[in-house]
Amino acid sequence: MPTVLIVYHSKTGNTEEMAKVVAEGVASTGLKVIRKKVQKTTLNDLLKVDGIILGSPTYYGTMAAEMKAFIDRSVKYHGKLEGKVGAAFASGGGLGGGVETTVLDLTKSLLIHGMIVQGDPWGSHYGTVSIGKPNASAKKECKKLGEKVATLVKRLAQAS
Ligand SMILES: Cc1cc2nc3c(=O)[nH]c(=O)nc-3n(C[C@H](O)[C@H](O)[C@H](O)COP(=O)(O)O)c2cc1C
Repeated sequence: MPTVLIVYHSKTGNTEEMAKVVAEGVASTGLKVIRKKVQKTTLNDLLKVDGIILGSPTYYGTMAAEMKAFIDRSVKYHGKLEGKVGAAFASGGGLGGGVETTVLDLTKSLLIHGMIVQGDPWGSHYGTVSIGKPNASAKKECKKLGEKVATLVKRLAQAS
């Protein structure tokens, strides 16, 4: 069965809460989902899955150092993740604090790996964002993100 991996960092729980709802979205489609804190994720985990969703708090307008370090280590498998589906989400402390640039920075790494990232014409265009503890509307977008990634993973699996 195709599998989606959610890798995230979270110090005070907000990004983790988002990750849980993203996972619910994936699971609601019937796909297997693995949710792991970045510290517990191995580079081999990346190879085994069909979709990878990255989540981070916003630290000084970009991703947490823990996520950046993991992404830098993923150069070990540069070229091996091509064609997998990717997506990103981020938590921030306030509007205008850089939460969207964090999503875009995470997304750049997915694109550099040759992964496929789907935008959203209606809700969170680049990936899901939340300010502080995710409210009902942020949770709805998190669930949708998981569903969208899983649906694309399924479509690509059927086509191959
Ligand atoms: C070192 C540090 C830097 C931060 N920098 C920003 C920032 O630039 N912009 C912002 O909106 N929030 C910033 N925040 C707030 C966090 O992004 C926010 O509290 C987030 O929800 C924390 O996620 P977590 O609960 O998953 O750890 C910062 C927090 C810390 C600890």
